[in-house]
Amino acid sequence: MTKRFYVTTPIYYVNDKPHIGHTYTTVLGDVLARHHRMLGEDVYFLTGTDEHGQKIEKTAAKRGITPQELVDEVAPNFQNLWKEMGLTPDHFVRTTHARHKATVQERFTQLLGTGDIYKASYKGLYSVSDEAYVTETQAKELQAQGLAHQLVELEEESYFFRLAAYENWLIQLYEKYPEFVQPEFRLNEVKQFVSPGGERGNLQDLSISRTSITWGIPVPGDEKHVVYVWFDALLNYLSACKEGHWPPTINLVGKDILRFHAVYWPAFLMAMYRQEGDDLNGELPARIRELLPQTVLAHGWWLMGETKMSKSLGNIVRPKELLHFGTDAARFFLMRDMQIGHDRAFTFESFMDRLNADLANGLGNLASRSISMLQRYRSGIVPIPQKWDDEDRVVAEQGAKLCADYLAKAEANDFNGALDGLWVYLRHLDGYIVKAEPWKLAKDEANKEKLDTVLCQLYRALRATAVLTAPVMPGMAQLLWESLGMTGQVSEQRFADLAFEAPAAAPVNDPKPLFARIDKDAAMTEIEAIKTAEMAPATPAEPSLDVPPMKENIDYDTFAKTDLRVGLILEAEEVPKSKKLIKMKVDLGFEQRTILGGIKEAYAPADLVGRRVVVVANLAPRAMMGIESHGMLLCASDNASKPYLIAPPEDAKPGFVVR
Ligand code: ME8
Ligand code: MG
Repeated sequence: MTKRFYVTTPIYYVNDKPHIGHTYTTVLGDVLARHHRMLGEDVYFLTGTDEHGQKIEKTAAKRGITPQELVDEVAPNFQNLWKEMGLTPDHFVRTTHARHKATVQERFTQLLGTGDIYKASYKGLYSVSDEAYVTETQAKELQAQGLAHQLVELEEESYFFRLAAYENWLIQLYEKYPEFVQPEFRLNEVKQFVSPGGERGNLQDLSISRTSITWGIPVPGDEKHVVYVWFDALLNYLSACKEGHWPPTINLVGKDILRFHAVYWPAFLMAMYRQEGDDLNGELPARIRELLPQTVLAHGWWLMGETKMSKSLGNIVRPKELLHFGTDAARFFLMRDMQIGHDRAFTFESFMDRLNADLANGLGNLASRSISMLQRYRSGIVPIPQKWDDEDRVVAEQGAKLCADYLAKAEANDFNGALDGLWVYLRHLDGYIVKAEPWKLAKDEANKEKLDTVLCQLYRALRATAVLTAPVMPGMAQLLWESLGMTGQVSEQRFADLAFEAPAAAPVNDPKPLFARIDKDAAMTEIEAIKTAEMAPATPAEPSLDVPPMKENIDYDTFAKTDLRVGLILEAEEVPKSKKLIKMKVDLGFEQRTILGGIKEAYAPADLVGRRVVVVANLAPRAMMGIESHGMLLCASDNASKPYLIAPPEDAKPGFVVR
């Protein structure tokens, strides 16, 4: 039976613009998928978008469109990008797909029936500015920053998943099946989270519904609730699985979402697959292990220097900037330079150095030199070696070993190591050429056999390189393949058929240039231009709104008691010794008033003179700092910002009623 291979990427939040991080994960998925196809496996590669939640709801409202219209507009940002990069997922799942929604609802109902989901009241500290509950640690951080006023205690009805009940099985999963989380040190992080220092009883049940959000999948039979975030998002891997491909072989994730994939996700699945008679306090049945993802593979972050990329720091590397160098080059760099699991600093400098060294000079040079020599000295026909000296033998042995090493590393998802080994070999070949000096050998018929051996070894190495790197650099590998005189698609080769020493099937062709050397200064100027163009249409950063909760409703008569008037500021001066107050003389048309305003931090007295303002004219007079103020100026602000004076239009006369 053909082995199946099911690989997924996280589904990306549709409201974000794709960046190097999303690109990296999806390229890794694509490389794995192509690699396993060349291993002859039955591959299914899934990616997609995460489309529910309050942010979408709000952005849509702001733009006056429905959330569905919004997500339909932005989901193609991801879908088209992957196409443009030549990535070939077998399916693109969206959490707004009917099949996904149906799966989430069916599973919710199933787990409600087994008691794994129950309804209770949820109480917690809620951040008004983030519109989300915060953890105890987050709350402490906010308090330390003096932002405690952003937190309110909220209580709402919520559905809970009985996560705590799965602690025992989860711990067994990590202990008995350590391949479940890779790399190994990431598994330790997960263990520490579930049972710090080996302690039990730490997991808490998980709130999985909200009544405060409407843009989501309704809880079946209780539609004022929508399913909240992870129970919705994680189930994409199930709802969009291809028939016969369950379970995932690899769920690819960034370290930021490992916990959700290594704790919640298997627990949800354990609940779905457990049967009568299974004991949650007993042994995790092997039957259930087999239905869980084989491996959650967590990679680290691409950083800018030492820091995380973030929109607010403006240090995000966008896919377009990488694509400027060609998709193969971008894919090669991402696979070559990231050691899975670790963080990696990105700089354009190192990016371009890598491409120049490994693709332009390294492989590109080796290929064009070798193929040209085959043409010049042997009319393109690849000779069969008759004689081997010590150096030839070393190169031959390394070549034979190379393929096995490369495939073993790739099997362990270590493309960084695999490519590193391959390039060590290619560099060794450069040295081999320099030492053998084929151009001298070619001058004397007596050296024919040595030259045959050298040329044949170069050919074999390039042929193996084309096949091995086809998943990483599909375009470049195909060019190399064709230069070597091969027909058909290199991607249709099978690794199992890769015979390093097999004779050439046909004469070589003209070498096709693989990668042009990058002029770094010119390229940086181009990158800056791309960055500027990308920044231009960007929507301005959303101000976070730190405002008190709404006041109670009042009736019209209560409101109508307030007498608001247009005023004109005639004079303004600071109130001595007061941090905030400015004393103004304001013309109300029918009379002039002295009014104090707490606006010193926002306005200089000189800037106030001549401004039109809105005055609460019938506010009872009140003394501050020994001065009587009669009336109040209207300002707009949130808790964090400076006050902005409300300004009537220039042609509104002092004394006009505001109503
Ligand atoms: O978390 N370096 O979506 P998301 C490397 N919708 N990879 C990075 C990265 C970086 N600097 N930044 C992001 C979500 N990533 C949820 C997932 S899955 C059921 C739901 C990658 O749009 C990395 O793979 O925030 C990370 O896990 C993913 O983008 C998060 O994408
Ligand atoms: Mg994220």
